[in-house]
Amino acid sequence: MKKINFLSALMVVTMFILTACGGGSGTSESAATQDEPKQEEQAKPDAKTGLEAQMDLGEKIYTDKCVVCHQADAKGLKGAFPPLANSDYLLADPVRGVAQVLNGSNEEMIVNGEKYHAPMTPQVQTKEEAVAVINYVLKHFNGYTDDQLLSMDDVKDVEINPMQTPQQPQQ
Ligand code: HEC
Repeated sequence: MKKINFLSALMVVTMFILTACGGGSGTSESAATQDEPKQEEQAKPDAKTGLEAQMDLGEKIYTDKCVVCHQADAKGLKGAFPPLANSDYLLADPVRGVAQVLNGSNEEMIVNGEKYHAPMTPQVQTKEEAVAVINYVLKHFNGYTDDQLLSMDDVKDVEINPMQTPQQPQQ
């Protein structure tokens, strides 16, 4: 009798453990299988796809807007639109480039030995967009590596203050 009691006690305990852990491990298993890929997904996009997403945005802005003047190869049009590819002017100060894309530019400048002076209207409205397109230009037309690209911190002092009179006659 003792044996049977022991066995049934054991069964009760076993069933209790099975139910408790079975249910428990079921949940924690599915939680684990759900959690792990999520964490991976998040870890990757944050580190890598953050930049990939920025590049995609930059490329889109470039093809939508800049290409008209600065051309598909970013070499510009001599005498009219300065080059962005291997532009000594841009590379001397990419943060200034971000400000120009945000606020427009209308000043005489020498780019790769050529003089340019024509108004460029503001092209984008947010620093995120401006950094995205300048980083795209730096990476794709100037051979910058990822760690040479601008961060949002680099442009924290850029003020958004679009030039007021791009369309008005310049005398
Ligand atoms: C309507 C034509 C036009 C469009 C569109 C345009 N630009 Fe410009 N861009 C110019 C002109 C003209 C200048 C010279 C401005 C000056 O003389 O002050 C210039 C100058 C620049 C400069 C500084 C000079 C250099 O070559 O490094 C940068 C950087 C620049 N543009 C980036 C861009 C980007 C990025 C875009 C797209 C978001 C863009 N531009 C769209 C006409 C344009």
